[in-house]
Amino acid sequence: MPRHLLSAADLDRDEVIEILETAASMHDIQRRDVKKLPALRGRTVINLFFEDSTRTRSSFEIAGKWMSADTINITAKGSSASKGESLRDTVLTITAMAVDALVIRHSASGACRQVAGWVDASVINAGDGTHEHPTQALLDAYTMTRRLGDLAGRRVVIVGDLTHSRVFRSNVLLLGTLGADVTVVAPPTLMPSGAAEWSRRDGFVLSHDLDEALFVGPAADVVMMLRVQRERMSGGFFPTAREYSVGYGLSRERVERLRRRNEDVLVMHPGPMNRGLEISADAADGLGSVILDQVSAGVAVRMAVLYHLLSGDHSVRDQDSGREGTT
Ligand code: NCD
Repeated sequence: MPRHLLSAADLDRDEVIEILETAASMHDIQRRDVKKLPALRGRTVINLFFEDSTRTRSSFEIAGKWMSADTINITAKGSSASKGESLRDTVLTITAMAVDALVIRHSASGACRQVAGWVDASVINAGDGTHEHPTQALLDAYTMTRRLGDLAGRRVVIVGDLTHSRVFRSNVLLLGTLGADVTVVAPPTLMPSGAAEWSRRDGFVLSHDLDEALFVGPAADVVMMLRVQRERMSGGFFPTAREYSVGYGLSRERVERLRRRNEDVLVMHPGPMNRGLEISADAADGLGSVILDQVSAGVAVRMAVLYHLLSGDHSVRDQDSGREGTT
């Protein structure tokens, strides 16, 4: 296992499978009355969140607690970052307290990789700008695998605001590692520049036409809707909300048509959802929706990630203070 988890590309196929298998046993713990494992006793995990979060932050906190780690949450608003302290000073201050892992969410793409170069602790990327969100891709893969088994050759359609989506970037990488057949759909204004070249390199298909992606060719096994990230938009990326949802929203009618082609099709969304914009309430709550399964998988997968990064053999790390070693 790598020492940090910064990108979904840090994991090879065997490592992904190992994390998903560990997550499956962690998932069983969620059903117990006493949700506690001693695996990370004595280890300290800091969740450092410079951007808002509900699911990711709370699931990392619960994951750490259920593994008996000492977990502390720090948010930008309550920290010295709001007094002008630099990211480097903030993380060096925190890691001077001998922490074992830093879980970081930051609005700057690449922030987590920078931090990994400054500290000896394991760094886990919990979302950096529009770049990556590897544990989300792992929990999405876990959710799909539970329902579909091996993802090789499975057809996954990812739809929405791809320009601003770190979930899309990590998912394309991880699903590629697992051999899934991925199509991504966005209006031209929400398709990242360079996507064409990237899709050729990593072997996924681009489309601007949702109905064609969903209803022409082999039926989808999974449709993953992504949030329109208005907070990252400076101008108008589409004329009106109504036009967006007509062209790119998952309506009840679209789900019905999908289910006629494949009645086991899964509807996913990483949350938070804009109901009525990228996904209708019927689609979000209806048959085939595994959106809450994704949330519950989030705890199990983050337990597995913390376990693999922190409870392994630390000899390499202890010897060379971890700058290059892997454990
Ligand atoms: C995503 C994120 O923060 O990147 N949400 C999440 O982690 N569950 C997606 C989003 O904000 O739309």
